[in-house]
Amino acid sequence: MSGKLTEQMKAGGPKQAIPFCNVEAMPLTDSLSKEYNVSIKRTSDKFRNPKNEPTQRELEVITNYKDQKSKGAFLEPIVEESADKKVHFYAPILISNKCLACHGKLEETLKVQTDSIIKSLYPNDLATGYGDEELRGIWSITFNK
Ligand code: HEC
Repeated sequence: MSGKLTEQMKAGGPKQAIPFCNVEAMPLTDSLSKEYNVSIKRTSDKFRNPKNEPTQRELEVITNYKDQKSKGAFLEPIVEESADKKVHFYAPILISNKCLACHGKLEETLKVQTDSIIKSLYPNDLATGYGDEELRGIWSITFNK
């Protein structure tokens, strides 16, 4: 994703790049999910797209990661089976500098113009105000049987 994102940022700035921070727009996730019958999701406690809203378990995982991170712990991926026998994989997603143009602090790293484009597409956007290396959210991958 990151390579494509950077390319689009160079070509047309955030306006052109915005649709590319979207898992469904990634050909690799699409072919992987079909091949292995997995669902690939990114989610966050502060989500931008309502389609990415976390489940109760995902929210717990996020809260635990935040807690561990505040204690300086290394965040390990988690693999677990749910009551319905599906296997779930969770892994942290951290903010880096290249994310701030669209997830940063308004009028500091996030331009008002970019924010208004984002808000026009995602009126209930919660995914701004981040600083470098903060926990942005998690990957949540479900292996369906
Ligand atoms: C060019 C603007 C842009 C940049 C740069 C960007 N994002 Fe996003 N991000 C978005 C948009 C737009 C969405 C909503 C995508 C969708 O509809 O699923 C999003 C959604 C997400 C989500 C899914 C959860 C949610 O809030 O809906 C995560 C996680 C995420 N971004 C992490 C990152 C990380 C980490 C980086 C840096 C590596 C990054 N983004 C860089 C625009 C951006």
